[in-house]
Amino acid sequence: MTTRYRVEYALKTHRRDQLIEWIKGLLAVPFVLHSQPTAIYQEHGEGLKSVAADTHLRYAEIMRDVENLMLDHIHHHERNAPGKSKLNLLVPTVGTFFTQLYLEDAFKYQDQQRFISRRRFVAPSFNDIRLILNSAQLLGLVRSSEVQLVTFDGDVTLYDDGACLTADNIVIPRILRLLQQDRKVGIVTAAGYTEAPKYYERLQGLLDAMHYSTVLTTAQKQGLIVMGGESNFLFRYDPTSEARLAYVPRDEWLLEEMRAWSDNDITQLLDIAESALRACADNLSLPAAVLRKDRAVGVYPVNGVRINREQLEETVLVVQNTVQRSTVGSRLPFCAFNGGNDVFVDIGDKSWGVRACQQYFGGIDPSKTLHVGDQFLSAGANDFKARLASTTAWIASPAETVELLDELEKAVHSK
Ligand code: IMP
Ligand code: MG
Repeated sequence: MTTRYRVEYALKTHRRDQLIEWIKGLLAVPFVLHSQPTAIYQEHGEGLKSVAADTHLRYAEIMRDVENLMLDHIHHHERNAPGKSKLNLLVPTVGTFFTQLYLEDAFKYQDQQRFISRRRFVAPSFNDIRLILNSAQLLGLVRSSEVQLVTFDGDVTLYDDGACLTADNIVIPRILRLLQQDRKVGIVTAAGYTEAPKYYERLQGLLDAMHYSTVLTTAQKQGLIVMGGESNFLFRYDPTSEARLAYVPRDEWLLEEMRAWSDNDITQLLDIAESALRACADNLSLPAAVLRKDRAVGVYPVNGVRINREQLEETVLVVQNTVQRSTVGSRLPFCAFNGGNDVFVDIGDKSWGVRACQQYFGGIDPSKTLHVGDQFLSAGANDFKARLASTTAWIASPAETVELLDELEKAVHSK
């Protein structure tokens, strides 16, 4: 029977971020009480400005209160205190924070960028809060820690969905800047290829820029790695290879727990995922073909057609549920996600991918790692799992990644 709960779950929960929704709800109160849409007709200039100033103060106060709740949540974890933190009671799905989040200052910064408190008709939105959280995270990394490793998702984060990192991409000088500052960089992408030339094809602009850079030292160039298939194939920068990358054998980088992932289990899990994908493709009449790889299986559209969002989401949820309910799915980590116009199931997930990068560079702490990605919904999104391994920033386009990196640079300088 399809209960109301199931309908709500299937339709909504996986498409909402509870923490962001909760903060949005808190800010909606002063918006309703103070925004005074009629003031726009009755008053001009100074009158409107004082309403905005008042609203700004109220929003800032709320953000300070949330910041303190988060701090209490962090201390609760550090002390191993019994029961749930107050924030955990208010937002049951909230995870752990690796650094303090400076929400009040982040709000003040984003209010200058986005004029949130000047708005009379449009309440603080999901995107406003997502960007405030990103800024708060950057401040947290810079003030209470330091950034030693930045990992980037590929599609939508560094370049448009399905595109390549070409030489004209303005993110390239920002990534080179990170390397020049002796920070490490990992590209942690779902795109899973076993050969370096395939990644060179996708990342050529960046790899060539590194190759020809006279500013970066040899050691700084070694600060770039590519983790493909979420957590399956590792490549390091290699100036002697034509593809500028060299495959790193698994025994040189696997985490201890990953060594227990048996080939048998991997095949079994992919078999289950593949049959679920085929059943979905059939049931939903998807204009798609099934692609089975070493460490992944997916459906992708044939002849460049688009699969609609509902079909993609249905497919992800069906496959996710099917694999999760299987015995092998309970012992082997996997990640089923909606890639925008395809659905893939990968062995492992980005929490393993980011952790492996941290270990590869000598054991970088989660509080000194930032993962930048576009997929942070709780189901059908692959960057979400990185939250278990590092601090994160949720961007919505490659342009936002560039802004974020410039904001980080400003924060470092004004420390
Ligand atoms: P990401 O955004 O960089 O994580 O890349 C995700 C996209 O990579 C997917 O939407 C697929 O189009 C593509 N892709 C290619 N090979 C694989 C694979 O083996 N697993 C998952 N995604 C893949
Ligand atoms: Mg992406």
